[in-house]
Amino acid sequence: MKRILVTGAGGQIGSELVPALRAHYGEDRVVASDVRLAAPGTTVASGPIEHLDCTHISEIEHAVRRHDVGTIFHLAALLSAVAEEKPRVAWEINMGGLYRVLEVARLHGCAVFFPSSIGAFGPSTPKRGTPQDTLQRPSTMYGITKVSSELLCNYYYQRFGIDTRGLRLPGLISHVAPPGGGTTDYAVEIFHRAVRDEPYTCFLRPDSCLDMMYMPDAIRAMVELMEADPEWLVHRNAFNITAMSFTPAQLTEEIRKHVPDLVVRYAVDPVRQAIADSWPDAIDDTAARDEWGWKPQYDLESMVQNMLDALRAKLTPSRLRTGI
Ligand code: SER
Repeated sequence: MKRILVTGAGGQIGSELVPALRAHYGEDRVVASDVRLAAPGTTVASGPIEHLDCTHISEIEHAVRRHDVGTIFHLAALLSAVAEEKPRVAWEINMGGLYRVLEVARLHGCAVFFPSSIGAFGPSTPKRGTPQDTLQRPSTMYGITKVSSELLCNYYYQRFGIDTRGLRLPGLISHVAPPGGGTTDYAVEIFHRAVRDEPYTCFLRPDSCLDMMYMPDAIRAMVELMEADPEWLVHRNAFNITAMSFTPAQLTEEIRKHVPDLVVRYAVDPVRQAIADSWPDAIDDTAARDEWGWKPQYDLESMVQNMLDALRAKLTPSRLRTGI
């Protein structure tokens, strides 16, 4: 079996995808790469690693040749809020990186996984039950790069036969690595405050409804899609997937079942609020369910329980050391 290359391996998804792929396919079969080299001792650094800047095609090609790569999980990208701060850089990294990855995939016959997003939708998209195939006119730089990337992946499949596949991921909730610059980050930050008995100030309005998913489901979805029988795939790229859909107020209510004194205040950030307002409330993932058997395992209740358990377990050793 050829090796798998993961770009952006040090990010929120990569930090959990790399260990999962290594457990599934073998430690030495998965090459973790990032512009920032992983710190020794982290799980990502426990197997092959490469320094890789996706805006340099020679670096991608070097890694693919050196490790005999057959599949690329291309995760390196800027998230929505950072992309609004730095739209030019976002275009260069998100589009330039994908274009170069696809070119290397074309030259070396690699399969490519691409993570699109609920950000690929816009204000004119139907807000609830958002269909797989619908109007996509995003109003953010992040969304524009995601729609363009979906089209580019389809183009490389249709024109060159490159096995490109992808998901429109919702907000991802996880406890291993922080998200870093997204609109859905509040749904991670709030847990870190809750386990420390600290108040949380949310940057979205309490009624902002968005699709969300717990990271173990997202990781499983990526692996299952890449392993799916291509005969069944009608869409291939950019499958809608979701697990739950909630507002900051609803998440707070669920966390308060475990942390009754949690205080949540609101200081709305107009940039991130405008991004959230332009995205759907709840998308329809029937195509993913029908074409490759997608089914989430975590709902709001089980995700909250699991997040709190995991973060409390992490806190305990430091509390013991400091005697708090
Ligand atoms: N979680 C991402 C963001 O907020 C959406 O894909 O940018």
